[in-house]
Amino acid sequence: MKKTILITGGAGFIGSHVVRLFVNKYSDYKIVNLDKLTYAGNLANLKDIEKKSNYEFVKGDICDADLIQQLFYKHNFDGVVHLAAESHVDRSISNPMEFVRTNVIGTVTLLNVAKHFWKASLDTIPKGKLFYYVSTDEVYGSLGKKGKFKETTSYDPHSPYSSSKASSDHFVRAYHDTFGLPVIISNCSNNYGSFHFPEKLIPLAINNIKNNKPVPVYGKGANIRDWLFVEDHARAIDVIYHKGKVGDTYNIGGNNEWKNIDLIKLLCSMMDKKLGRKKGESAKLITYVKDRAGHDMRYAIDSSKLQKTLKWRPSLKFEEGLERTVDWYLSNNEWLQNVTSGDYQKYYDMQYIKR
Ligand code: NAD
Ligand code: TYD
Repeated sequence: MKKTILITGGAGFIGSHVVRLFVNKYSDYKIVNLDKLTYAGNLANLKDIEKKSNYEFVKGDICDADLIQQLFYKHNFDGVVHLAAESHVDRSISNPMEFVRTNVIGTVTLLNVAKHFWKASLDTIPKGKLFYYVSTDEVYGSLGKKGKFKETTSYDPHSPYSSSKASSDHFVRAYHDTFGLPVIISNCSNNYGSFHFPEKLIPLAINNIKNNKPVPVYGKGANIRDWLFVEDHARAIDVIYHKGKVGDTYNIGGNNEWKNIDLIKLLCSMMDKKLGRKKGESAKLITYVKDRAGHDMRYAIDSSKLQKTLKWRPSLKFEEGLERTVDWYLSNNEWLQNVTSGDYQKYYDMQYIKR
């Protein structure tokens, strides 16, 4: 094999798209996917590639230093693409400690093993090795009406989730600056697409509209997010992993800002058509609810560095990506039912134990 890469969190939403892309595109790479299979991780997300000879799944926790060491000894990794995380802001408000554990302690555990195994030091920066950390634009905080986040924007996180990601970004940079670990960080805007757990805005709204349930809109629905199709994010990670400059940060975004309420209304009208409902029928489900505590008003990413230096661009118009996403959820009812039923995880745990 030309390279062996450890991808963490590969059974989650973005991770599964990254694993799929790497396994299919690089048949001469060995891809090892380490995932704890929390509520957000599902092996069903990777059914189409699970039998490929260049792919291996390991169930485990990124906080388990012994396991990470064993994996490094066994596979002699050239790279790590680290996506495993607790990722939902609302959950971080009700249980911040889990976010500290996985996002901060888990990341530092991985950094320690990579540093040790690659014998990183400022005198001998290991060649051909890379620790790639997938982070979020939320570390930059909240924007007013104008401006966009640049790679140089100061960190100003507000939620326990974004604070944990900001903290781990700092650790990743510290391991580069102090120990010579070859690292790259990318900070991406909100993703949407297939295999997105239906607790986040877009899949939750699709699921609720389909089931004629209220669609909760926090506050006045005036908050703005910059949405990127998940497969475009995976492509960006591929380009940055292979061509990015060690020690650098890259912002990734869709240049596609939507006010939450406008996005929900667009979804409602799409769903009316797809489900053969009368125009305006789904929009009746929109329900304004209490705002999220510390709710960031606006995110917008300036991805010009990535676009100029590495020639990456978003490939889809939002309306097209959203329609593809709606179609995927409507034709993958079994997946949706399984992830929303409590037995799903147990079923996959059993399958894993049997193998
Ligand atoms: P997700 O919640 O869908 O998936 C996270 C995955 O990590 C799951 O498969 C879960 O089982 C696994 N995991 C959690 N804790 C673990 C642990 N202790 N050990 C091993 N595996 C563990 O998340 P996502 O939306 O796919 O996000 C992936 C990464 O991208 C995260 O680091 C997130 O911060 C970042 N990110 C997400 C977005 C977005 O819009 N979703 C945007 C920018 C950046
Ligand atoms: P979310 O998908 O949780 O992503 P993030 O908070 O990381 O940006 O939420 C996207 C936006 O939608 C955010 O402004 C919160 C809002 N939101 C709702 O209005 N209703 C919902 O049910 C959810 C989950 C989110």
